[in-house]
Amino acid sequence: MAYNLLKGKRGLIFGALNDKSIAWKTAERAYEEGATFVLTNTPVSMRLGTIDKLAEKCDSIVIPADATKVEDLENLIEKGMEFLGGKFDFVLHSIGMSPNVRKGKTYDDLDYNFLMQTLDISAISFHKVLQVCRKLDAIEDWGSVVALSYIAAQRTLYGYNDMADAKAVLESIARSFGYIYGREKHIRINTISQSPTFTTAGSGIMGFDNLVDFADRMSPLGNATAEECADYIVTLFSDLTRKVTMQNLYHDGGYSSMGMSLRAMKIYNEGLEYRDVKKDMRRKKD
Ligand SMILES: NC(=O)c1ccc[n+]([C@@H]2O[C@H](COP(=O)([O-])OP(=O)(O)OC[C@H]3O[C@@H](n4cnc5c(N)ncnc54)[C@H](O)[C@@H]3O)[C@@H](O)[C@H]2O)c1
Repeated sequence: MAYNLLKGKRGLIFGALNDKSIAWKTAERAYEEGATFVLTNTPVSMRLGTIDKLAEKCDSIVIPADATKVEDLENLIEKGMEFLGGKFDFVLHSIGMSPNVRKGKTYDDLDYNFLMQTLDISAISFHKVLQVCRKLDAIEDWGSVVALSYIAAQRTLYGYNDMADAKAVLESIARSFGYIYGREKHIRINTISQSPTFTTAGSGIMGFDNLVDFADRMSPLGNATAEECADYIVTLFSDLTRKVTMQNLYHDGGYSSMGMSLRAMKIYNEGLEYRDVKKDMRRKKD
């Protein structure tokens, strides 16, 4: 159901790779809510993914940019404003990638060149987007910027690897830049800490299936889907949330406030019982 929440608003959306992407779902919802926007991704992901189909569906265009390259961002932002006929009212940073995760390097055996790439792609690119936007005066007064984060920025979660460090930096950038942009132009900057979600980036994490299952059992409302995340993002882009800024907002069905749930405990108990049966069988053999 659409509410015209973004009627007349212009946006810039990073990170739609395919129809599983959180950015893809957000673009669809933003379009339904009356926004016009420019889509962007790296040239490689444009070849591997299906972003052109999304652009067609949303009367949008795709301008390629590697978000770690300032000159790409300058070109994107200038051309984007030209296409839309004005400044952006909202920007979505939905970008994440760790070469260490991709190559199966564990946190106690990181490749440091890869680590720098993880930080640059997944966190510092957010700073670059904001800094270029500010220098080009590309965001309207009372505009809204959102980046996607994960609870591993605060808590240790097995397998999330150096992405945890990147997310901690990302959330800090939202606060530091949120102060500057808020004070000057009433522009708000927030991160959304989303449940584990089956997307290309998500599925790269070690033990991801189990992580999704565990989070779902722990969350009283269950995991938040990519579509639900898009709904939440749309509210943050709308005029209904104009005084929300410099926040890390959990969108996780309650997971972040839980210690142990009955549903998770049941599985744990079943595991213990199974282990006891096996131990018993071994004892009988001895
Ligand atoms: N899927 C999850 O479980 C989950 C949970 C919490 C947060 N997030 C975050 O959500 C965001 C979106 O990820 P997703 O789950 O939709 O997966 P996704 O793989 O669909 O999106 C990641 C995007 O990052 C883009 N990207 C990578 N390097 C880039 C670069 N140099 N410049 C520009 N774009 C680049 C990719 O092309 C891709 O479109 C990421 O920040 C991710 O960490 C995901």
